[in-house]
Amino acid sequence: MQTAVIFLLACLPFFVLGQQPPCGNRDCPSYTRTQLNVTGGYEVRRYDPSQWVVTSAPGRSFRRLFRYIGGFNDQGAKISMTVPVLRAQRASGSTMMFYLPNTIVPPTPTNPDVQLLDIPVKEFYVRVFNTNSKPQPTKYQQELQALKTAVDGQYNDTVSYTAGYHSPWHTGVRQNEVWLEKL
Ligand SMILES: *[C@@H]1O[C@H](CO)[C@@H](O)[C@H](O)[C@H]1NC(C)=O
Ligand SMILES: *[C@@H]1O[C@H](CO)[C@@H](O)[C@H](O)[C@H]1NC(C)=O
Repeated sequence: MQTAVIFLLACLPFFVLGQQPPCGNRDCPSYTRTQLNVTGGYEVRRYDPSQWVVTSAPGRSFRRLFRYIGGFNDQGAKISMTVPVLRAQRASGSTMMFYLPNTIVPPTPTNPDVQLLDIPVKEFYVRVFNTNSKPQPTKYQQELQALKTAVDGQYNDTVSYTAGYHSPWHTGVRQNEVWLEKL
């Protein structure tokens, strides 16, 4: 019992169930929380339909998407940086995604390795965790495993997501998330 209490206290700053995404003054996709499972350490979010710009080509993903919002598109239009930066992991590889504000009609990418993607309304299991620096891949794996173990329901086990809200230069606490598609 005592060990459990000490363990809980030690984890407290990093156990952030129900914490809102740190969007700050940036645009981020809207959702409704449909479930908060304290025991399982996760929540279910129903995201409204959203549009994204994505790239699956290996290497320099962030730069490719950053260029798209910086004007590498058929209108030379600049789009403000949004959050989160999502990374979808599938057996076929990894896809990086930037959210696009729903107030714009996204311009067409000029780089063939960059595509637009519409995600219909969808529910995700979300586990939130804080770190003091950019999480290592092993940390994401641990959190994802914890989420998979905890969820009481079905999820799409061919894809998982990580969500980041901070720039690489951010100092201090970072809020990170792992997501699974609820079925
Ligand atoms: C909450 O999570 C716990 C632990 O994973 C699980 O046993 C329980 O069924 C979940 N509750 C609901 C309502 O999904
Ligand atoms: C599960 O995810 C895969 C990969 O993204 C997708 O092709 C498939 O349609 C999804 N299955 C369901 C039932 O949503």
